Amino acid sequence: MSGNPPALHGARVLVTGAAGQLGCYLVPALRGAGAEVVALGSRPGNGIDVAVDLAAEDAARAIAAESPDIIIHGAACTDVDGIEREPARGEAGNVRATRHVAEAALACGAYLLAVSTDMVFSGRGGAPYAEDAAPDPISAYGRSKLEAERAVLAASPGFGVARTAWLYGGVGKHFPRTVLTVLRDRGGIDVVDDECGSPTFAGDLAEALVALAAVRASGILHAVNSGRASRYELARETARLAGLDPELVRPISSAAFLACYPLPASRPPDSELQNIRAAALGIALRDWRVALGEYAPRLAAEILNDAAPS
Ligand SMILES: NC(=O)c1ccc[n+]([C@@H]2O[C@H](COP(=O)([O-])OP(=O)(O)OC[C@H]3O[C@@H](n4cnc5c(N)ncnc54)[C@H](OP(=O)(O)O)[C@@H]3O)[C@@H](O)[C@H]2O)c1
Repeated sequence: MSGNPPALHGARVLVTGAAGQLGCYLVPALRGAGAEVVALGSRPGNGIDVAVDLAAEDAARAIAAESPDIIIHGAACTDVDGIEREPARGEAGNVRATRHVAEAALACGAYLLAVSTDMVFSGRGGAPYAEDAAPDPISAYGRSKLEAERAVLAASPGFGVARTAWLYGGVGKHFPRTVLTVLRDRGGIDVVDDECGSPTFAGDLAEALVALAAVRASGILHAVNSGRASRYELARETARLAGLDPELVRPISSAAFLACYPLPASRPPDSELQNIRAAALGIALRDWRVALGEYAPRLAAEILNDAAPS
């Protein structure tokens, strides 16, 4: 991100999803900005201060009892295909959980910034999407996240929703990690070249969320690394930056890929986002190639040379 993030000195900030992919960058970024952080997760351990199932009846009370000044809601059920099979999981983990978080924010007078997704868009025309583009999700996950966005903004027009996309970095499964793992184990990978979006490093998103929370940004904002890529381009660049031959990444159409590996949920063919409103607040994220250039060598050391997780 360009410039220094504004400080959050003295603010008590509760982070949901603190043990997730975003959370593992967000918690230290907030501490670095001077905030007192309450890390909320679904279970104890792993740096979690408070364990709460956000979909449970008493979740709002448990959050409000922490008396945060700010809540950054990064928790979500992110199992896109699982939700397509069982939409009730999206209803519980995304809609009901977010309603509870918004209720808690209102109860304790906290500012709420909730994280959402490019998958609220169909990707079938209209990209690059501005913040005011009409959402039209094509998956049960996208519909659950859109309903969650609406719950946040219905609770208070002063709350914010930050949409991001194609996150990578940190713990768990993500696309660049899958690419390098498959290249290591099989020596080649077929990657779709007709699905495009905005690859975003979770560490950069964390810094942007700190800056957005510091100015209490309201309404819908987009927060992605700038530039656009197909999955194929992202995979090739990951291979190149890891010191591997990019030709090991082979292009394939989504139709051909899905004929071999059917997936329950539809993905948007082109969901590139534009950060117009964040940029107007002076919050700009760097180009995805620059962000990946910094991260991929660390990931390569971890996957190809068995170094500690990056
Ligand atoms: N990953 C992406 O590519 C992507 C793209 C666009 C937008 N986003 C959005 O970005 C945000 C962060 O995503 P992420 O990649 O960091 O997700 P993640 O790694 O799956 O982490 C989500 C976290 O939420 C927690 N959680 C889920 N349900 C919960 C519940 N009922 N109660 C309490 N905690 C619960 C999970 O805890 P447990 O594991 O313990 O259940 C997990 O630690 C989400 O809002 C997601 O929708 C992600």
